[in-house]
Amino acid sequence: MGGRKCKMRHFRVCLPFYRRRPYSGLSGPGIAIPDSVEMNAAWRQDKLREFCKEKGIYVAAWSPLGANGALWGSLAVMESPILKDIATNTGNTIAQVALRWIIEQGAIPIVRSFNKERMKQNLKIFDWKLSESDLEKIKEIPQFRAFGGERFVADHGPYKTIDQLWD
Ligand SMILES: NC(=O)c1ccc[n+]([C@@H]2O[C@H](COP(=O)([O-])OP(=O)(O)OC[C@H]3O[C@@H](n4cnc5c(N)ncnc54)[C@H](OP(=O)(O)O)[C@@H]3O)[C@@H](O)[C@H]2O)c1
Repeated sequence: MGGRKCKMRHFRVCLPFYRRRPYSGLSGPGIAIPDSVEMNAAWRQDKLREFCKEKGIYVAAWSPLGANGALWGSLAVMESPILKDIATNTGNTIAQVALRWIIEQGAIPIVRSFNKERMKQNLKIFDWKLSESDLEKIKEIPQFRAFGGERFVADHGPYKTIDQLWD
């Protein structure tokens, strides 16, 4: 469940069909979801994540680094001055800070790299923590949905405006 157009309305419809089961490696009961949503420090998905937390649904985050290089991608994450400062102060890279922030939110980052060194780097996020003040700074990052979904909006379709699509 989930994906580009996933919204709370869809979760409410599908929830009764999901079986609660523990997710290995993560604490507490949860519902396995075979898909994911756009989520990163520059598109936090606060509302959806709050809903998922209430319902015991784990969120998987695609484009955790902002998908630089993809059609919908941007540099909102990888060139964030806030993430850059935190990276410098903690001796990590921006990518590591961005990925660590996701796991600290209880979500599962689905990061992509074709570069062996960056793959290794992206895994070094499990033995350190962001400080409370860093987490507060990350909340100040301007929010920007990279995947707009305009192609799903049409006068003759179920979603006539962007707001309807993402509601
Ligand atoms: N379900 C859906 O609708 C959906 C939508 C979008 C994406 N996805 C999936 O989500 C995964 C995430 O991919 P994504 O492309 O959206 O976004 P992403 O992981 O946010 O960004 C990938 C980009 O970041 C670069 N990168 C990776 N690690 C890095 C590092 N440590 N330092 C600097 N740059 C780094 C990669 O370049 P290099 O390869 O050169 O390292 C690539 O250009 C993919 O597997 C994708 O298929 C699913």
